[in-house]
Amino acid sequence: REKLIIGMFGFGVVGQGLYDIIKTKKLNLEIKKFVIKNADKKRTLPAELFSTDPEAILADPEINTVVELIDDADAAYTFTKRALTSGKNVVSANKKMIASHLEELAEIQQQHGTSLLYEGAVCGSIPIIRNLEEYYDNELLHSVSGIFNGSSNYILSKIFNEGQSYDVALKKAQDLGFAETDPTLDVGGYDPKYKLAIVASHAYGIYVDPESILNLGIDKLADQDIRFAKEKGFKIKLLPLAKEINNDEVVLYVLPKFVRPDNILYNVENENNGVLVKAAFADEQFFYGKGAGGHPTGSAVLSDITALRYGYRYEYKKHLEAGQIQYSSNYELTV
Ligand code: HSE
Repeated sequence: REKLIIGMFGFGVVGQGLYDIIKTKKLNLEIKKFVIKNADKKRTLPAELFSTDPEAILADPEINTVVELIDDADAAYTFTKRALTSGKNVVSANKKMIASHLEELAEIQQQHGTSLLYEGAVCGSIPIIRNLEEYYDNELLHSVSGIFNGSSNYILSKIFNEGQSYDVALKKAQDLGFAETDPTLDVGGYDPKYKLAIVASHAYGIYVDPESILNLGIDKLADQDIRFAKEKGFKIKLLPLAKEINNDEVVLYVLPKFVRPDNILYNVENENNGVLVKAAFADEQFFYGKGAGGHPTGSAVLSDITALRYGYRYEYKKHLEAGQIQYSSNYELTV
């Protein structure tokens, strides 16, 4: 098998986590170049490995694999498209970029015989994309829901279990490297919405513009919501939901909800994520694991990198008849 010669965009929390893991393994791969934004930052690796010029990766014919771990979604889109059209495979963890351009990128990789994989973009270490693609290939999924944002869940855990203030807990989530550079993406429910849009394409074969999905975040919770939940013995969790209705429509939204102690999500705490799949024949399954952090997310990225060695590419439920399931954006939330 061809050796993977990697060019990596970004060397932040996930990039360094991935690098730590790779160092411990004997893999037939080499990271040839890191392209970073800030040349002045002190790095732990030799300076000649770093460049600020994207061409150091994109124009190098020897680099056959691009690992994209930056948080600028527009730049990530440009690099990913360039790489895929010039014969390089891409592994990305950029949920905003992927959710916003999924249909086009799925088409491009098909046309150019390249692969775009992004397990690390959705729920950190939980292998939910691979399972939706393969294991549930022939299932009618009633719903996919759960906790998709580690930072919001961390903050809610600190508020409910330790009585911490929202601001202190948010600062800790940032210090621990769970939150996005702009934490509004987390606490406003945007990050789980992007993940939900990606999940929907693998669960139902539909491409949904994330802008059309309703999201309310935990930044909208009032003190009385928390008090009410505590009095009743509930917790509040930020819950994305993809749900099939009427056999041919899918509704999608992200909302904070009260969760009772008998709900499996009640005990998913801190930066952990949980994905609950309800299927017509397989019935219910629950996936649990770390949803954020350098090593857990790095491990998902590495799993994608190594999957490239056997030519793995997502199918997006292509065997479904076109139009079999449609996205319904005008679903009314009723009580
Ligand atoms: N900010 C994200 C989270 C990182 O808190 O879940 C993992 O995608």
